[in-house]
Amino acid sequence: MKNKYLVIVLSYALSLINAFPNERIVGGQPASISTYPYQASLRSMSNTHFCGGSIISDEWILTAAHCLPGRTARNMFVVVGTNSLNSGGSRYTVSEIISHPNYNEDSNVNDIALIKISGKIVFGPNVKPVRLSLDYPPTGSNLTLTGWGLQAYPSDSLPNILQFINLYSIDIEHCKSILFSFPITSNHLCTVHSKGKGACQGDSGGPLVYNDIQVGIVSWGIPCAKGFPDIFTSVSSFTATTLEVVVGTNSLSSGGTRYNVTQLILHPKYNNKNLANDLGLLKVLGTVTFGSNIKSIQLSTDYPPHGANLTLSGWGLQAHPSDTIPDILHYLHGNSIRISYCRWLLRGYPVTIIYC
Ligand SMILES: *[C@@H]1O[C@H](CO)[C@@H](O)[C@H](O)[C@H]1NC(C)=O
Ligand SMILES: *[C@@H]1O[C@H](CO)[C@@H](O)[C@H](O)[C@H]1NC(C)=O
Ligand SMILES: *[C@@H]1O[C@H](CO)[C@@H](O)[C@H](O)[C@H]1NC(C)=O
Repeated sequence: MKNKYLVIVLSYALSLINAFPNERIVGGQPASISTYPYQASLRSMSNTHFCGGSIISDEWILTAAHCLPGRTARNMFVVVGTNSLNSGGSRYTVSEIISHPNYNEDSNVNDIALIKISGKIVFGPNVKPVRLSLDYPPTGSNLTLTGWGLQAYPSDSLPNILQFINLYSIDIEHCKSILFSFPITSNHLCTVHSKGKGACQGDSGGPLVYNDIQVGIVSWGIPCAKGFPDIFTSVSSFTATTLEVVVGTNSLSSGGTRYNVTQLILHPKYNNKNLANDLGLLKVLGTVTFGSNIKSIQLSTDYPPHGANLTLSGWGLQAHPSDTIPDILHYLHGNSIRISYCRWLLRGYPVTIIYC
């Protein structure tokens, strides 16, 4: 696999293209890790940095799929919390690698992958997750790339200190016209800067952010900083771009007002095994307009008394199993029970019970 990669790099270099499996920033400036606490370094077992990545939760690192051919959970690890390749930070082993199932090595489309850490990443001032964008940034956006990629091309050595650079997004159609012989799709994002500034080998897999929200993953480019666009995987193509919220109707099939979701915020301590902290927020584009059928709900600051008469509303199944959810909203009254009784009823279930 290693040899195969080398051959790919060489042949791409000859045709002037290079999937940046080892890219770095040309023309950047040293970055402190507290400013970019989501930055991760992917390392081989010999502690050699081979790609960048970003922390997106306490279990997952986002990177590019082209970083991972030949890699297994056992022959790599992840370092976070340092801007230096040779010192500091915390090292995590990997439990799983998930490359996009439609990643294509030849065209580099769907160049996105997830790395699951063994255990949990411990957050702190130098280690924090980055939010993922659900939107494509506007043309001309001022974006920030961070990485340990080459500072000149060709060159044999990566910089020890993390670099950052501001790059500007260009219209995707414009990008396609500049690089007309290359496979650029609407799932890509292109940036430019002046000659002498841009991504290079070693930056691959690393995060491109807009207002501190990740919009791109370093994918490929023409090495390096020759004034051609750098090509990123557009994060919003793989996040919930079509997620919307409908309010103001009791019918799933008609009425109401639709709002596009622009941000998902999971409880930072949500645990998908025991469902602890099972709470999330959706941010919608614009402001919700209130009316007789659209009002906000007040949130309780107290735990209700034992036996309280409570109301649940929803469009859930009316029988189980069943294939169809009802079109019309239903409600149900029920009484709260003592938490100790609830725990006893559900004994054996790995559920953190906070309310019954
Ligand atoms: C882009 O943003 C950086 C700060 O994040 C700023 O220093 C730089 O001047 C901006 N560039 C332009 C062209 O506005
Ligand atoms: C919501 O998103 C859809 C597609 O994702 C888009 O066509 C529509 O214009 C968006 N609506 C608003 C109000 O931005
Ligand atoms: C609970 O309250 C609803 C009205 O909000 C009422 O119709 C229902 O009878 C009450 N249920 C019990 C068990 O008290």
